[in-house]
Amino acid sequence: MTDLLDAAERLDREELEALQLERLRSTLRHAYDNVAFYRDAFDKAGLLPEDCRTLAALALFPFTTKADLRDHYPFGMFAVDSSQVRRIHASSGTTGRPTVVGYTQRDLDTWADVVARSLRAAGARPGHKVHVAYGYGLFTGGLGAHYGAERLGCTVIPASGGMTARQVQLINDFRPEIIMVTPSYMLTLLDEFERQGVDPRSTSLKVGVFGAEPWTEEMRREIEERFAIDAVDIYGLSEVMGPGVAQECVETKDGLHIWEDHFYPEIVDPFTGEVLPDGEEGELVFTSLTKEAMPVIRYRTRDLTRLLPGTARVFRRMEKVTGRSDDMVILRGVNLFPTQIEEIVLRTPHVAPHFQLRLTREGRLDALTVLAEARPGTTPDQRAAAAQCVAAAIKDGIGVSVSVEVVDPETLERSVGKIKRIVDLRNA
Ligand code: DLL
Repeated sequence: MTDLLDAAERLDREELEALQLERLRSTLRHAYDNVAFYRDAFDKAGLLPEDCRTLAALALFPFTTKADLRDHYPFGMFAVDSSQVRRIHASSGTTGRPTVVGYTQRDLDTWADVVARSLRAAGARPGHKVHVAYGYGLFTGGLGAHYGAERLGCTVIPASGGMTARQVQLINDFRPEIIMVTPSYMLTLLDEFERQGVDPRSTSLKVGVFGAEPWTEEMRREIEERFAIDAVDIYGLSEVMGPGVAQECVETKDGLHIWEDHFYPEIVDPFTGEVLPDGEEGELVFTSLTKEAMPVIRYRTRDLTRLLPGTARVFRRMEKVTGRSDDMVILRGVNLFPTQIEEIVLRTPHVAPHFQLRLTREGRLDALTVLAEARPGTTPDQRAAAAQCVAAAIKDGIGVSVSVEVVDPETLERSVGKIKRIVDLRNA
């Protein structure tokens, strides 16, 4: 395995940190010289890029938020002349303007390199066929996966999202070893395999590289068992690059190694912004170390996780993301994430791994209804027992009362990409 590692993956911790500091200082200078937003922010804080003399000194510098990117829509955060920008992506927010990101040719090369590295860590090898069912377009999933797979020397099948029946046919006929898709869409594919009478355990697939949304160990187990594959986690966000910021190694499946030679992570207290030591949970913050077109300094991802020491690689790991601060539901004072419900639903007998959270308002209080789908062939008694079991597990495990309805098979909307777990009817 070690003979497959690239040069940065062979550095020791000290060499890596020296490289990070050098790259960090030049990124701060690049941002200060070329983006008015960063110049103003550093000036206001009374800081020059050179004041960052250690990696820890980055904590002196101000944060960047999604709102900052929106305020400079579309190209105000770019640090190079528009003639140098080779690609634009955008992520549609829930409200208002999308967040726009840009890449130079060198950025696109870096991106392909980190996705190739991710795929290799996932177990892909040159010559494998990679079925990419992340959406192609302004979303970074499809094209990001695509160029990384080509860079590794794989054959890409650019299926994109949707047309589920055809996806199954392509997988049967083209016989890919690797699939890249959101975990929720993988479940949609699972149903389709069964509908077509094809045993999902009989496909050519060996590894699934799943990301773009939070998913749990219970979901990993479900997918691995039903498809007889290894399921590993890939993380990324458009503002920082796209997929391939961090990747789980197939041999350890113990969290995601952050490609720290390009993306410098910090964990901060989501309320005070104070930097937390490794091992403590908080909000993940990234500073790009090599990006040209759109460097980001201390970008607040709103993703909650913690940093852990490296295992299969020298790079630090991040624990599987449990949720985004935006997805947190506060119910009668109790904080709750959709992933906590996922864990419970997936270990309850007689319910399928499909569920939705419906938020309503009863008087002045918010109420949550968990809709979970029955597995085909279940009796009314089994459904009632399952509903009770989910409600009790939520009460015991999370500490809040919710209603649970176990609905007929195939009634909840299926994912074709990133799934939306929460339906908010509070102002309906
Ligand atoms: O979702 C990039 C991506 C594509 C990653 C394909 C992996 C695979 P955005 O649309 O900008 O970019 O959304 C980024 O999605 O801040 C997280 O909240 C969430 N997310 C991405 N990967 C994971 C993951 C892409 N593995 C936002 N686990 C991030 C949990 C994830 N959440």
